[in-house]
Amino acid sequence: MNRDRLNPTAGTVLLKALQRAAAFTLPLHLPAHGQGRGFPPALAALLTEPLGPLDLPELPSLGGPLLPHGAVAEAQRATAKLWGSRCCWFGVNGSTGLLQAALLGVLRPGQRLLCPRNLHRSVLHGAVLAGLEPIYYSLPFSQRWGLSQPVDVAWFQRVLAAVADQGCSMDLALLVNPTYQGLSAPLTPLVRLCHSQGLPVLVDEAHGSHFRAHGGLPRDALAAGADLVVHSTHKSLPGLTQTAVLHSCGARFSREDLEQGLLLLQTSSPSVLLLAATELAAAWPHQQPQAGCVLSRAMDRWCHWQQQLTRAGWRVSPSDDPLRLRLCTTAGGPDGLALDEHLLRFGIGGELPEVAGLTFYLGFQPPRQALGRLRDALAQLHWSAPNPPGVVERVQPAPTPLLARSAVPPRTAWFGPSRRLPLKEAVGHVVAEAVTPYPPGIPLLLPGERLDEERCTWLFHNRHLWQRLGGMLDTVKVLM
Ligand SMILES: Cc1ncc(COP(=O)(O)O)c(C=O)c1O
Repeated sequence: MNRDRLNPTAGTVLLKALQRAAAFTLPLHLPAHGQGRGFPPALAALLTEPLGPLDLPELPSLGGPLLPHGAVAEAQRATAKLWGSRCCWFGVNGSTGLLQAALLGVLRPGQRLLCPRNLHRSVLHGAVLAGLEPIYYSLPFSQRWGLSQPVDVAWFQRVLAAVADQGCSMDLALLVNPTYQGLSAPLTPLVRLCHSQGLPVLVDEAHGSHFRAHGGLPRDALAAGADLVVHSTHKSLPGLTQTAVLHSCGARFSREDLEQGLLLLQTSSPSVLLLAATELAAAWPHQQPQAGCVLSRAMDRWCHWQQQLTRAGWRVSPSDDPLRLRLCTTAGGPDGLALDEHLLRFGIGGELPEVAGLTFYLGFQPPRQALGRLRDALAQLHWSAPNPPGVVERVQPAPTPLLARSAVPPRTAWFGPSRRLPLKEAVGHVVAEAVTPYPPGIPLLLPGERLDEERCTWLFHNRHLWQRLGGMLDTVKVLM
């Protein structure tokens, strides 16, 4: 007899867990709309309608992201017009799917992608799929905040000079802006530098799609002249999870090539409900003065939180983004992972725990009681944490070279025959997996890179810092 038939919860396990999670947690994490409080009115209204009849695929009148006719095509054209791009596509597999489609569309196997080390894993996986040869550049590191910083112009000039010294001709430059912790690079001169060398630019602006909505925020990638830009409409606009937009500007890449890339990865039945939510969220920054007011309030809120938390004895990292706030834990006291565990016991969910800090996503409108609850929970840290958190050592920057060329392309490393070796024995071998101190941390090694003595030593000395998350492995997968 099928035992599940007797089990009344079969089929509802996830639904019940979802309802519990939604009721229990004070979410200081993504998505940006914060339990719907930040939805644009039209999206809020849409989601109060009976959703069954609206759950539709590509009907002829509606079309889809890759069809020339129909409402989706029209919405994409209107969205591109708002943003000043040549064309754009909505996606229902997040920025992940659109970044990968862009790479598959505009690059060919063997072509080179200049990438920062804080690339999202979707880009690495895109490089595997497309058979690309990424070349990685390191980022500056702030010892004060225990945090990688975005590149500035002088740093990026050094990167491009190193590219020239190594005689590499690059085919596309990737910039990730802002960082997960909300720090922004000066995009306009960086894009200009690339263009002056004939290098087109793709900006992963997953966390910065709202920059357009307020003059006091950093300049956005499309305004800065980037050729391709990816927006996560759930991370930095008030859209639904999974939704994203890819914009193409200028004449460097053809629409046909990009659509070939999209065709490889897109579902043939995208939910038009999600696509409609994407359009509403992507229009949000242009709904002025409302969007500007929301962000002005977010900026005031950030300053207020910073003052209050500083008064309570915490260090708040600088941020260019009022939607995210990072408590810095390098100066002693709990590490970010312990802090996150502690807050979860109070039902407070942070976004990004790291050894040296914990980033909260305040979003467009955090719950009213959020700051008070956070302050109360922080005040109880020393009394109620069952394992008193230890003092954090100062986080040392990983010894990654300014510019690193892989020994073999990621695709070869990904699919090649491999075995596991103890770390110490792996020096000199090509790794077949990313070695990253906590995703989405900055990878110390990417598949296809050779493990050198310096990085191995760093791993040995620093591994224990990540122990709370299961630690980093004693072994590494290497190519045979
Ligand atoms: C910088 C960056 N790019 C892209 C992504 C992927 O975004 P999505 O979750 O929309 O697929 C992430 C996700 O965390 C990210 O941090």
